[in-house]
Amino acid sequence: MKFKTIIMGAVASTLMTSLTHEVLAQQLPTRLQQIQQLKWQQVAPGVWKTIIGKADQVNYMSLRRRSVQIDGLKSLPLANFPLDLTKIAGTAGANKAFVRLPMADDEKIYGMGLQFKGVRRDHKRYRMEMSWYHGGNEKTHAPVPFYVSSKGYGVLINSISNVEFFFNNTYRPDSDKLPVKRDRTTDRKWTHKAQGKYVEASVNGDGLEVIVFAGPTLMNVVQRYNLYSGGGVLPPKWGLGFWDRAHTKHSQDFITNAIKEYKTHKMPLSVMGVEPGWQTKTYPSTLAWDNSRFPDPKKFVTSLKNQGIYVNLWEHPYLHPESPLYKQIEPLSASHLVYQGIVPDLTLAKTRKVFQDYHQKIHLDIGIAGYKLDEVDERFPGHVFFPGGLNGEQYSNIQGLLYQKTMVEMYDRQNLRTYGLVRASNAGAASSPFVLYSDHYNHEDFIAALCNSSLSGILWTPEIRSAGNEREWVRRMQAVCMSPLAMLNAWSSGKKPWSFKKVENEIRTAINLRMSLLPYIYTTFAQYRFTGQPPVRSMLLNYNIENADQFMLGDSLLVAPIIWGKHKNDTREVILPKGKWYDFYTGKYVGNDQKIKVTVSLDKMPLFVKNGGIIPMINPVMNPDQIKENTKLTLRHYGDVPSEFMLYDDDGKTFNYQNKEFSITRFSVVKDEYNNKLVGKITGKYGSYKPFYGDVKWLFMTK
Ligand code: GAL
Repeated sequence: MKFKTIIMGAVASTLMTSLTHEVLAQQLPTRLQQIQQLKWQQVAPGVWKTIIGKADQVNYMSLRRRSVQIDGLKSLPLANFPLDLTKIAGTAGANKAFVRLPMADDEKIYGMGLQFKGVRRDHKRYRMEMSWYHGGNEKTHAPVPFYVSSKGYGVLINSISNVEFFFNNTYRPDSDKLPVKRDRTTDRKWTHKAQGKYVEASVNGDGLEVIVFAGPTLMNVVQRYNLYSGGGVLPPKWGLGFWDRAHTKHSQDFITNAIKEYKTHKMPLSVMGVEPGWQTKTYPSTLAWDNSRFPDPKKFVTSLKNQGIYVNLWEHPYLHPESPLYKQIEPLSASHLVYQGIVPDLTLAKTRKVFQDYHQKIHLDIGIAGYKLDEVDERFPGHVFFPGGLNGEQYSNIQGLLYQKTMVEMYDRQNLRTYGLVRASNAGAASSPFVLYSDHYNHEDFIAALCNSSLSGILWTPEIRSAGNEREWVRRMQAVCMSPLAMLNAWSSGKKPWSFKKVENEIRTAINLRMSLLPYIYTTFAQYRFTGQPPVRSMLLNYNIENADQFMLGDSLLVAPIIWGKHKNDTREVILPKGKWYDFYTGKYVGNDQKIKVTVSLDKMPLFVKNGGIIPMINPVMNPDQIKENTKLTLRHYGDVPSEFMLYDDDGKTFNYQNKEFSITRFSVVKDEYNNKLVGKITGKYGSYKPFYGDVKWLFMTK
């Protein structure tokens, strides 16, 4: 009997097993079919979205500062859905939502936020999660789950949970082209290489939203993404001048004196950053003025403003018990502390209001022009609870965005533009006027981050802090002056631009070049605002070149910095895309569709202009406030072909440009009918704003 029972049990369990397999086998096709039925909705020209499972209430697009810029999107080429619909599948269940998209054998993937190494992202499994960057690979404090494909489309996983991506790295029974099965026992040379022909992405939770952006070009993909995110940032003009951040312990008097030194040294300056020391206590912070170092903040801010210098304040959101905000924020804060301070839940309108009312009164009302929002790249444990309902994982990914939103709303309400710094960001941030920075200091990584950030709607500054020697000081300064935010961050070094005496002239030349280029840079940002083309552009965007050590600044200027630690003896290789290229300084032809080796003296960085490039320039000013009416404008033309440049201008401070108070001047270079020489003229003026320039001079750089 006993024996019988055992036998019966074994048979039963065998039966059970095969039955289970049968049932699963029957269910398999149905499950696959089910995940293939995704409904796509066109949400803007060339942009489609689908929701798999249950949509989250908070997502990146719900945190946008501005809504979709439909006009800009309408002006892009008409585009069809860029992927094979039948190959897209998705499902949600068991606390996972996932999407699968087709991927061709030769397809390459770029983007994915602020990345410090190379440009390719397809050869790996990527986990996009907030992480303080120490220099390791694939860690980022702007983990934007958006990728751009070499096939001319882009995909955003619009979910604030961590996203796990697999590129050609997963199999399903229904995968195309499954590799031939081999027997490892007899075929020992065989190594398993995952090749799934799909992109798969997943998040923890009940659902996810997928947004697909059409091209056809990589630039068009990025434009659509940026315009869908509200359009790019148009900073106030002062934001594009030179920035200094004083040592954290420096007082109001010390800083005021340092500014006098800027004048003595004839160094431009338009923003002075005040680091933690403006507060009574930091880490955690009180957010209260320290009266011993800053006895009269209003006087301090006003006296700087009268000299065309704007004040930016450092802060983080973690509150000290002595903070005047503490009591109000305590019930609105997270379950855990950071730096022993309470963490305000900025998803709650009430929290944001407490923050805004306070900052308005003690800062904006006395003229503080912007903020450096530090330490928001905190990665909270997943189980941290926020009273608004989010968990630590979700909040980590958006804390930077929420802080930006909180601060920018105050300026928006006052019809004032701001421009600041932030140490964490994410998707949908193109319209948010904050630039990323980090505590990392590898120059090569800094330049790679400049290139990569342009693929994800974020801005980055390769800030200069200090240097081991004069040459490093100059090379770092030159690079940062060609970036979205030209800043010396001396919070710890206390350095000034003239700290390395022997190279003071070279430093002045680098900063002055930025000041001279302001009309060009401002127009480039206007392109970002209205057309979504980023100011700094990876070589992928216009030229399909995979490179992370040179980039385009605007339409015409190719910037190839001498990277400290990488390029030795002032020499480097530069990739010149198809088309003729010219030396910025001399106008001489340098090459076409080739790699060249260049050596430059310390006072120069390698800069090239494309054929027909027109670069509007002014004489260097100490700060953008000095660009008054009737400033002399020089238009440099390079190369041998007719071309044009649309110069953008407005008041540089408010949003009145949104009510048509701007100007666009069309500068054209044409061939003279009689002598066939190139001549320059103004061929159109649009808009009601009176532009800054008076005399116009043409300089044909290529003889
Ligand atoms: C760091 C920040 C630095 C500086 C410093 C002040 O977290 O990255 O730029 O602001 O804090 O304590």
